[in-house]
Amino acid sequence: MNDPEGDDEPDVSGFESEGDLNLSPHRERWLADHVDPETRAWLDEDARYFLHQSLSTPCLNVLRSCEGIYVEDLQGRRYMDFHGNNVHQVGFGNRRVIEAIKAQLDELPFCTRRYTNMPAIRLAKKLAQLAPGNLNKVLFAPGGTTAIGMALKLARVATGRFKTISMWDSFHGASLDAISVGGEAIFRRGMGPLLPGTEHVPPPDPSHCPFECGSQCSLQCARYVEYVLEKEGDVAAVVAETVRSIPFIPPPGYWKIIRAACDRHGALLILDEIPHGLGRTGKMFTCEHYGIVPDMLVIGKGLGGGVMPLAALLAREDLDIVPEGALGHYTHEKNPVACAAGLATLECLEEDGLLENARVLGEHALRRIDRMKASYPMVGGGRGLGLLLGIELVADAQTRESACDAAERVMYRALEKGLSFKVTMGNVLTLTPPLTITRAEMDRALDIVEECIAEVSAA
Ligand SMILES: Cc1ncc(COP(=O)(O)O)c(C=O)c1O
Repeated sequence: MNDPEGDDEPDVSGFESEGDLNLSPHRERWLADHVDPETRAWLDEDARYFLHQSLSTPCLNVLRSCEGIYVEDLQGRRYMDFHGNNVHQVGFGNRRVIEAIKAQLDELPFCTRRYTNMPAIRLAKKLAQLAPGNLNKVLFAPGGTTAIGMALKLARVATGRFKTISMWDSFHGASLDAISVGGEAIFRRGMGPLLPGTEHVPPPDPSHCPFECGSQCSLQCARYVEYVLEKEGDVAAVVAETVRSIPFIPPPGYWKIIRAACDRHGALLILDEIPHGLGRTGKMFTCEHYGIVPDMLVIGKGLGGGVMPLAALLAREDLDIVPEGALGHYTHEKNPVACAAGLATLECLEEDGLLENARVLGEHALRRIDRMKASYPMVGGGRGLGLLLGIELVADAQTRESACDAAERVMYRALEKGLSFKVTMGNVLTLTPPLTITRAEMDRALDIVEECIAEVSAA
């Protein structure tokens, strides 16, 4: 990323990715206009001590508290958090989660290896009961990336093969193994040799489909996965996000085609639902929308209730095949506090009707986004599932050229009005609120989005 010519401006072309980059002039302007000297001093201190990277440090602002759907900055401004790193399904500071954590801290705050504990056993049992099919075996990890690594290892042992097929533009975490199967330049470029045998195929993204399917996915991308499985002949696993955070929402038949292809070619199917499993799409697990069961399912993020780092690999019962080896071995594997948070989170999701809320408000939001599309040529379209929502901004409705500059301007204008969300792939306003959000709050947020699109369109 460093410019070898020594220019001051870093070259970030082709780095459209997970989130908005911190190197943009819009970011600089926002800081100049909205940050007071005290906040600026803390931001400078942060930049002084943290290694810099374009999706975090230097940071935008300093937070001092969060509650429900809101985060609050040092200057006392509150923002609806429609980003939340996708950890906040049950809202920030959820009382049930906090009480469970406090109680567990007083009882058993850590569990030394060789021992187990009741919260860990209860959480593993509950996940096995909830998961579709026979995904009855569980391994916890302190983060999604490490859980993906465990799944890759298990696939190698189970199949005696090492190759994978995964999607361009996907994200599975930031470690070397995860970026090898991931498909984003910002994580891969300049890193030297990645894992061998990691084939990539196009994601189900009709707007930029190399098979030129038009605006409607023709499922050729799904059939191409089988083509590669056949040509390679010895693929261990297809690894993919069931739905992509951008979001890309594959059409109904997509996963059935890939599931059947994996079965025909002896490959395992590993689905990554780290950000969107546990209710965001309106079902507990996203693969339930597609009527298929993967061989391994990876969840994380919100599993820790928006407080604790916790992820889990859920594997087919008959994949319990490495008793003499080690797949995980992470220090916090059975952390009782994280597991207590996980149990409280699942209780909230089930008992507070949060999946239903995600379904109903997601459909409502998509209808409103459709109306925005009719009013503003810049809105190329809306897509989503439950409370995973995206609004694609285009510079030209025909060519669907991305309106990246406009997307950033909308994002920073929305911050001024109290709404925080991220821009993915440069031009998609990505909205992922807590599932606890009310209809009135959702409407207020969509009003802000629309006002900002109107203002930027008119500028
Ligand atoms: C789809 C997906 N997979 C994996 C990860 C990595 O999870 P973690 O940051 O907990 O390691 C993320 C994180 O954003 C993700 O969105």
